[in-house]
Amino acid sequence: METKVNKVKLTIDGKEVLVDEGVTILEAARQNGIKIPTLCQHEALSNWGGCRMCVVEVDGSPKLVASCVMPVRNGMGVVTTNDYILECRRTMLEFIFAERNHYCMFCPQSGDCELQNLAYELQMDHLTVTFSFNKFPTDVTNEYMVIDHNRCILCGRCVRACKEIVGASVLNFQNRGPKNLIGMDLNQSREQSTCHGDGVCMQVCPTGAMVNRYRSHYAVKGHSKDWQPLETVCSQCGLLCPTVNFVKDNNLIKIEGRLTRTNGRPDRGQLCRKGRFEALKNAGIRLDSPMVRSGSGTWKTATWDDILKLVSGKLNDVKKKEGGEAIFGLASSALSNEELVLFRDFMTQGCSAAYVDTFDGTHFRAVSDAAKEGKEAFREASWKMIPEADMVILLGEDASQSQPMISTLLGKGFLERGQKVAVLGKTDPVPPYTPYYLPVVDSALPLLVGALKTGLKGSGDGGKLPAKARLDADAVRVFHEIVKAFSESANPLFIVGEKLAGLEDPAFLADIVSLAKQKGLCPDKSSRLIILKPRGNSAGAWKLGISSSKKISGKSKWKAGLVLLGEPDDSYLAALEGLKGGGFIAAISPYFPESLSDKVDALIPKPAWLEEEGTFTSVDGHETAYKQKSLRAPAGVMDSWEIFKKLAERVGFKPGYRSWKDLSKKAEHEIKK
Ligand code: FES
Repeated sequence: METKVNKVKLTIDGKEVLVDEGVTILEAARQNGIKIPTLCQHEALSNWGGCRMCVVEVDGSPKLVASCVMPVRNGMGVVTTNDYILECRRTMLEFIFAERNHYCMFCPQSGDCELQNLAYELQMDHLTVTFSFNKFPTDVTNEYMVIDHNRCILCGRCVRACKEIVGASVLNFQNRGPKNLIGMDLNQSREQSTCHGDGVCMQVCPTGAMVNRYRSHYAVKGHSKDWQPLETVCSQCGLLCPTVNFVKDNNLIKIEGRLTRTNGRPDRGQLCRKGRFEALKNAGIRLDSPMVRSGSGTWKTATWDDILKLVSGKLNDVKKKEGGEAIFGLASSALSNEELVLFRDFMTQGCSAAYVDTFDGTHFRAVSDAAKEGKEAFREASWKMIPEADMVILLGEDASQSQPMISTLLGKGFLERGQKVAVLGKTDPVPPYTPYYLPVVDSALPLLVGALKTGLKGSGDGGKLPAKARLDADAVRVFHEIVKAFSESANPLFIVGEKLAGLEDPAFLADIVSLAKQKGLCPDKSSRLIILKPRGNSAGAWKLGISSSKKISGKSKWKAGLVLLGEPDDSYLAALEGLKGGGFIAAISPYFPESLSDKVDALIPKPAWLEEEGTFTSVDGHETAYKQKSLRAPAGVMDSWEIFKKLAERVGFKPGYRSWKDLSKKAEHEIKK
C-alpha cells in the first residue's frame, strides 16, 4: 500500500521549492539542483553532521546549521552561499588540513580525493593556522588496503559503513581529543581484527586514509577525471553484485560497489574482497599468442592458422577414426552462459564428443542425485531471502572465504535482527557471535544431519548422536539447542557449502533436502535450501546441461580433448586427472596454465574475465545478469565467438546462431526453461 507523503514548501537561495516532509535541507537543495559542499555525508550512509562543511543560514536560527542533518519545515528560508558561510567553511577546512598530514603532493590518493577537491573549490591556497605535527600509526598488515591515520579526518564514514552496510562494527572511534583515531576492534591491526577485508570503508573514505594497495598513486596529475566509469556486474561468486569499473587507457583502475541506502539487494551495493580486489591482481602469465608443445616438452608460439588447423584436424581425425566416444570436452563454469553454449555445441554437435563436463561436474551429479533421492526436483531458494529467514543453518562452509557476502549477511542477521544462525562445520567469522556453533570436520556432518533428522522426528529436543561423531558434552548440548531452535523456527533456510555438495554423498544431501522440506516451501514456492557452488556461473552451466550426469570412466580410451579455461585455478587438475590416456589435448585459456603445461599439447589464447561480455546466472539459478566488457584483450587475441566460429568451420559444423546476439538469446531461452 502506498503511503502518502506530505509536502513542504520552503525557499532556498530565493528559489521556492516543494519537497517531501522529513527530508534534510541538503536533500532538498540537491533535488533542486543547488550544490552544498559536504565531507562526512555519504548518500549510502546515515547522516552524522560531523564536519560542518554543509553549513547554511536558516532564518530564525542564530547560528549556521548543518544542512545534512537539519530537516526542512514549512516556510523555511535557507541561504546556502554568502561570504560569511564561505569564510566559515574555509576556516573549518583549514583546521581539518592542519590537524594531520594532508600534504597532497605526497599522498597516494592525490587526484582522487574529496578533501583535496574541496580545498580547490573553496580556494584554500594556504593555512592561517599552524599544523599540529602529531604523528599517528600506519597499518599495512592487510594484503589489499593501507590505513594511514595521518591522513584521516575523522569523518566517520568508514565507521558508519562498517556498521550500517557490512554489519560488522569492526571500525570505531578510539581515544579522546587530539589522540582520537579510527580503531579496529580493541585497537588491533586490520589483519588481527575481525575485519572482513571487503573494502567498503576504503570506498567511502574521502581522503587518502584508506588506500587500495594495488592502485595507489594512480590519480596523480588529475588523471581521475579521465577515468571511464562503467556500470556492470561481478561474476566471481554468483551473487552478481553490481559494480562500477573505472578504466583509463585500457587499465583497470578500481572496482567499486554501487552503494545505496536501498537498492533492492540485501547487500546495499557492498562488494566483497574478491569482487573489489581480485581483478586488480596479476592473475598469471598472459597468453597472447597460440602455442604448441614440442615432443621435447618445450612450448613454441604458432600462428592462428596453424593452431586452428592443428586442433580442428586432431578432433576431426579422432572423430572419423575412433568416433566421438574417444573425445572429451571440459569447461570452467566461471565463464559466461554464451561461452558455455558455444563450447557445448561445438563439442557435442561439432565433434560428437561422448563426454562433456565442467570442472564442477562432481557437485552437479551429487545435487542431481540428491534431488532424485528425494523423488522430486527442488528449486533452490534465492540467496536474497537470507535476511528474511528466522533461522539459517550453514553446513560445512567457511562462507567468509567462498562467499564473503553471505557471511556478511549472516553476521548482520544475527547482530541486527536476532536471526538464529547455526554453523555446523569448520571456521567462519560468524561463530563468535552465534550460540549455535558446532565446529566439526566435514566428514562428521552427514552424521549430524542424520541425527538432526531423527531428533526432529522424535521428541523435538534432539536425536541420538552416533558415537562416531565424537562430540564432547558441550557440543552435544549445542547440538540439542540447534535441534530445538530448528523445530521452533517458522521460516528457516539451509545453506550447504560447496565442499559438502562435492562429497559425492547424495544420500546425505537428500537428507538435507528432506529436512528443508519439513518446514514447507518458501513464499515463492522454492525449497528452503541454497547450495553454494564452486564457480561464478556454476548454476548457469548446470542449467545449460554442460555438467555431465555421468562420471567419467575409462582412463585410456580418450584420444582427443578440448579444455576451456577461465582464470588460473589449480582445481582443473583434479578434473583432468585420468583423462590424458596418451591422446591430444588442447586448451583455450586467457593465461598460460602452468599447472597443466605438461598435460596439454596446444594452447589457444582467449580474452580474460573483464575483456569479454556475456550473461551470468546467479548461484541460486534465480537471476541472469549481463556483464559488460571493461577492457580490450591484448592485440592478436581472438574473442571466444571468433575462436569457436573458426573451429566450427574447420570441422564442418554449422551452429544455429549467426551472431553473438543470437547466441545470447539462445542461452537466455535455455536458462529460463
Ligand atoms: Fe554535513 Fe559533514 S556534510 S556535517
